[in-house]
Amino acid sequence: MANPNKVKADRGLMRWIDDRFPATQMWQDHMAKYYAPKNFNFWYFFGSLALLVLVNQILTGVWLTMSYTPTAEGAFASVEYIMRDVEYGWLLRYMHSTGASAFFAVVYLHMFRGLLYGSYKAPRELVWIFGMAIYLALMAEAFMGYLLPWGQMSYWGAQVIISLFSAIPVIGPDLTQWIRGDFLISGITLNRFFALHVVALPIVILALVVLHIIALHEVGSNNPDGIDIKKKKDETGKPLDGIPFHPYYTVKDLVGVAVFLFVFCVVIFYFPEGGGYFLEQPNFKPADPLTTPIHIAPVWYFTPFYAILRAITFSLFGLDAKFLGVICMGAAIAVLFVLPWLDRSPVRSMRYKGWMSKVMLGLFALSFVALGVLGVLPVTEGRTQLSQLFTVIYFAFFLLMPFYTRLEKTKPVPERVTG
Ligand code: HEM
Repeated sequence: MANPNKVKADRGLMRWIDDRFPATQMWQDHMAKYYAPKNFNFWYFFGSLALLVLVNQILTGVWLTMSYTPTAEGAFASVEYIMRDVEYGWLLRYMHSTGASAFFAVVYLHMFRGLLYGSYKAPRELVWIFGMAIYLALMAEAFMGYLLPWGQMSYWGAQVIISLFSAIPVIGPDLTQWIRGDFLISGITLNRFFALHVVALPIVILALVVLHIIALHEVGSNNPDGIDIKKKKDETGKPLDGIPFHPYYTVKDLVGVAVFLFVFCVVIFYFPEGGGYFLEQPNFKPADPLTTPIHIAPVWYFTPFYAILRAITFSLFGLDAKFLGVICMGAAIAVLFVLPWLDRSPVRSMRYKGWMSKVMLGLFALSFVALGVLGVLPVTEGRTQLSQLFTVIYFAFFLLMPFYTRLEKTKPVPERVTG
């Protein structure tokens, strides 16, 4: 039975649609009558920018797929064909490859906002967990996409990462073979990565983004003060510190979109290789299973975790260094899932937390960036020691959080948002 309380248009085509599909109701629930806190700042641009990049990746990806050949014999040449012969193929490819880096840049800033304002804390735990699931799927998507041009770094990067699974005791070697679908990375691996990259993972990511936003709109957005705007309402039931998402934030977000597109275009038109960080030099040579590149490094957005993997040079509790490295790398990501339960602070936003939280967040951000830099550089003894130090700081941020968030003195939180 249709709900008689649904908001419907008065007449015309919209009314006809509303009688069959809750279009007006959905528009009101999620845009025109979705009350967002009025003090959103710079950090709140990155959710909508992530949506924009997602659309860019899907559209350019569909068009690239029209001219790409997912075989070991044809892949590299088909990318060259796209770059040289397909009309605007170079633009589509650079939009897609730059888009991959932009996606991670935007998502990392989006996640940092969560850390800054405690957006992961109750009642937004599921918003955060769906976000983390998106992040995992995004990493898988980027990793598989990177194999597709079938260049030297595609091949050897995949070789390094897939071989990590062989460190798992007992099932490791069989698992590695199962992932590759062959005894070595071959056209079979390329073909299955292609299927996952263009069909399966985009569906998963899209579905997760829908869940992410439904969960957010159920509880309402957090804000830089970390206070609940639903507590103070006017006589009509509207939050006093809330403004309708549309038109206020749709218009405000356009400013973020304009600045983002400007930077994005500068990269696409002037620095499409991103100094070797967005498209790595060895990938301009076709994959050669018989020649290993001198220095193998993943793309920049994976290097913090790669540095953690390489920081583990010793065995412990009977676990060899490689397996321990894989565990630490996995734990570095897994620990983010339980973040909502590690933070015991009575306040959400960093504005009202004590000095220990501020110092720890600063150190964490520093260690993440430092690990990212160390992860792209070739190994030396000194760099390994630095990676070990920053790995300890990375984990200390999370594992000590239940203690410092409870011990420190917090500032009084205002009743209304401060702007
Ligand atoms: C494809 C990737 C993603 C998209 C398209 C996306 C989209 C959005 C959008 C549109 C919002 C509302 C606007 C805003 O608050 O900025 C939002 C909020 C949020 N997102 Fe994401 N997101 C993505 C990934 C992530 C990830 C990886 C995380 C963290 C693990 C995350 C955590 C959050 C949190 C905690 C909020 C609520 C923030 C608040 O209310 O203060 N998101 N997301």
